[in-house]
Amino acid sequence: MAVETPLYSDSKLLFKLESECFDYDQISQRQFSYFLTKAKSIFLVYRQDSEITAYILGLFRARSQSVYLYSLAVHPHSRGHGLGTILLNAFEKNVRERGYMMMKAHTKVGNHAMLSLFKKSGWMTGHVVPGFYTDGTDAIELFKRIFV
Ligand SMILES: CC(C)(COP(=O)(O)OP(=O)(O)OC[C@H]1O[C@@H](n2cnc3c(N)ncnc32)[C@H](O)[C@@H]1OP(=O)(O)O)[C@@H](O)C(=O)NCCC(=O)NCCS
Repeated sequence: MAVETPLYSDSKLLFKLESECFDYDQISQRQFSYFLTKAKSIFLVYRQDSEITAYILGLFRARSQSVYLYSLAVHPHSRGHGLGTILLNAFEKNVRERGYMMMKAHTKVGNHAMLSLFKKSGWMTGHVVPGFYTDGTDAIELFKRIFV
């Protein structure tokens, strides 16, 4: 197993993983196709046999000095073995190599696993954004400065 860039044809596998990881604000297969082919992104996956076990997706925004970490997910059966940490570290390395100075993200206020992973990786918390998700729940802003 290794961290790798997904293939253009991986949208179906990614959507399958997404469905098993999120019951809110899921990325559709069509959106994955867009992210794989057209979006300016950092997209990394963990592949095991014929499945994708985990992914991380970051997006560049026009005229922004920061990269937005849009989503990170590890299959429920593969959690707790360091995959989330490995992908987040690989993502940060990629951001650093591209010369960006800041990473930003949102996560659900009650997402203790993700908040703990961010904290361990040196991310800071910002404001709470009320009703950020489509199910009405609040998000917390997160950010990490990249020091060269
Ligand atoms: C959050 C997520 C990506 C973590 O992936 P993972 O591979 O299990 O994480 P790791 O094994 O690398 O764990 C690293 C750290 O994260 C935290 N963590 C992971 N799972 C946790 C849990 N169930 N409860 C509390 N903290 C947890 C811990 O700080 C852990 O460090 P430790 O092992 O030294 O205690 C995974 O749980 C997931 O995919 N969740 C569903 C999708 C999601 O919510 N994504 C975030 C959207 S922004």
